[in-house]
Amino acid sequence: MNAQKTFENIKKLLKKHNQSHLLAFWGQLNAAQRQNLLAQIRQLDFLKIDNWVADFVKKPTSAEIGADFAPAQSYGPDPADTEQKSKYGKAVELGRELIRQSKVAALVVAGGQATRLEFEGPKGNFPISPVKNKTLFQIFAESIAAASEKYQTVCPWYIMTSPLNHAVTCEIFRSNDYYGLREKDVFIFQQGTLPNFSFDGKILLADKANIASSPDGHGGSLKALYKSGALKDMKRRGVKFISYFQVDNPLVNIFDPLFIGLHVLDGAEMSSKALIKAGPEEKVGNFCLVDGKVTVIEYSDFPDELAEKRNPDGSLVFELGSIAIHIINTSFVEKLNVRGASLPLHRAVKKILHIDEKGEHVEPAEPNSIKLESFVFDALPLASKSIILQTLRSQEFAPTKNLTGVDSIETARQMMVARAADWLESAGVTVPGKPDGSVDATLEIAPGFALEKDDVKAKLKQIPEIKPKDKLYLA
Ligand code: UTP
Repeated sequence: MNAQKTFENIKKLLKKHNQSHLLAFWGQLNAAQRQNLLAQIRQLDFLKIDNWVADFVKKPTSAEIGADFAPAQSYGPDPADTEQKSKYGKAVELGRELIRQSKVAALVVAGGQATRLEFEGPKGNFPISPVKNKTLFQIFAESIAAASEKYQTVCPWYIMTSPLNHAVTCEIFRSNDYYGLREKDVFIFQQGTLPNFSFDGKILLADKANIASSPDGHGGSLKALYKSGALKDMKRRGVKFISYFQVDNPLVNIFDPLFIGLHVLDGAEMSSKALIKAGPEEKVGNFCLVDGKVTVIEYSDFPDELAEKRNPDGSLVFELGSIAIHIINTSFVEKLNVRGASLPLHRAVKKILHIDEKGEHVEPAEPNSIKLESFVFDALPLASKSIILQTLRSQEFAPTKNLTGVDSIETARQMMVARAADWLESAGVTVPGKPDGSVDATLEIAPGFALEKDDVKAKLKQIPEIKPKDKLYLA
């Protein structure tokens, strides 16, 4: 088909779907820009886009909570009885064996824009550790290296970026020599994007020659694993289980034998870690059973009266919060992709730079546009079986979302210090405390020294003396 015919067809298509404005500046573009814009338009699926505009863009999403709706069940952080104790023991053994056999890979989703942190560059490059100021990427890399060493194996690492931060993430890894890991055991791949919309359903232009788009959410990882070849790479290596985590949690226990083992013993396809919510209003997703399937309902979609409902003993009825830690079977990811299953989209109103109909740049002071994204936990109800393991906040969840206040750099560092203190105390070390109960020292334990509490006792050659205000780094 000649170029003019292609152009005419695209023009017709855009008209039919109410998006003709995408070619509004065609006359001002050079040949390369035209080609590039047409390529971007060709990638859009307008039938899907019409549905998104009707279902998500033009109206706020409202969660439908059906009749068959109950709190989800979970395994406690410790076994409840002797029968469970023996199951946990078996699970730990099995989990260790699977890690040893290289059947488990780490996957971090690092394609987010980190707008709340106001940090230039990928969030993974944020320096967070309390003494050495190690970046999030370095902490994960050291944990993966330490797990490989502990289990005498190679634990591969998959890192999802977005088109916005892919090149710079790759450069960070290169310039840091992959933090001591082998380049061939680190697979960096990109997630997809989705166009941004005005409130009336028009796709926005970033400039006269480019569509405005955003990364398609952490749920995009399931598709991107398949499309990028990462899943193939996992298959080639014999990886069967993916340990999924977010780039903003420096406390995550990436290779947790108990979690992996329980998931496998119960024949699950996708499982989750959870913690007991700090209160009804904590901003984490809620684990529920909907039509018998484990489902996460975002805090923003969860009705207040359900969030506040309490049991006679005062505990929350819906007490399990999601912390975005999952084990996902590679066969499940493959199945979803082969079936062409797509996750639902969620709507977010955001400040997005774009041009208006006159071609002038709009620099929004207030959220002005719609971003659509998918969430990985929406795959849970598609799994044939899904288990939940409770973990302890103090041991495994330090979300680094904001500059200050709740879930901030400051709280994450405090939690890293507090966990180090807890691990040291469990090994007989006395740690000075402030009157408010917080730790009166700056402590950091390198992953190479200890990946879990029990490693500390084994590694400590002598009990260190820690004085108030001391800085201590164990490596
Ligand atoms: P958040 O929801 O915290 O978003 O992502 P964010 O983009 O990092 O931060 P804000 O909202 O702009 O401040 C949770 C996790 O999901 C990843 C992030 O990198 C983080 O690990 N994520 C999010 C992606 O990988 N891709 C996305 O499209 C969105």
